[in-house]
Amino acid sequence: MKFFIDTANLDQIKEAQDLGILDGVTTNPSLMAKEGITGKKNILDHYKKICDIVDGDVSAEVIATDYKGMINEGKELSSLHKQIVVKVPMIKEGIKATRYFSDNGIRTNVTLVFSPGQALLAAKAGANYVSPFIGRLDDVSTDGLALISEIREIYDNYGFSTEILAASIRHTMHIVDCSKIGADVITTPLKSILDLLKHPLTDIGLENFLKDYKKGN
Ligand code: E4P
Repeated sequence: MKFFIDTANLDQIKEAQDLGILDGVTTNPSLMAKEGITGKKNILDHYKKICDIVDGDVSAEVIATDYKGMINEGKELSSLHKQIVVKVPMIKEGIKATRYFSDNGIRTNVTLVFSPGQALLAAKAGANYVSPFIGRLDDVSTDGLALISEIREIYDNYGFSTEILAASIRHTMHIVDCSKIGADVITTPLKSILDLLKHPLTDIGLENFLKDYKKGN
């Protein structure tokens, strides 16, 4: 199970990297805008800064929605740094672009995936990662975790090497449940990673150990 952080915030990326558990980063245009990163040059520079902090894959999303535009943008993004994975939307042109990138040695993450059929197409097109958005499904009263299970079953049936990157994670139980189902990667805000640390019995136990140590010294 790989852990990616889902943010464009450099401080949070550093904090997760310093924890020693980080395998990569996912971003999207909304996460960039949240950090006030606007304009093509600033966005490209920001991707380079992220790559300098982490050792693993960094997903950078194309803005174009036509085939040619996606190819040009994807080439530019992937030439920025060897860690860049081009994030492509799950639309017809995106699938065509994913096939092109796969045939030309450019790694991809097919994003905005909400159904098993979409995940099947992404794998057929040679995507390296597929990103099912489980939180957004839960938000509309649809079982996001069930989608992860269905994709796992389909990929295992045929030995697809596309990695299931569970996205739109909202809380720690999403992380635990995705691990049980066998998602290859989870991408999550820093808060959910830090929330995994928490247990009141750990805090009480540590307090008592320290109290008892002091009694004997
Ligand atoms: C993943 O790559 C997406 O950036 C992200 O997980 C979307 O999460 P949200 O539904 O919380 O915006």
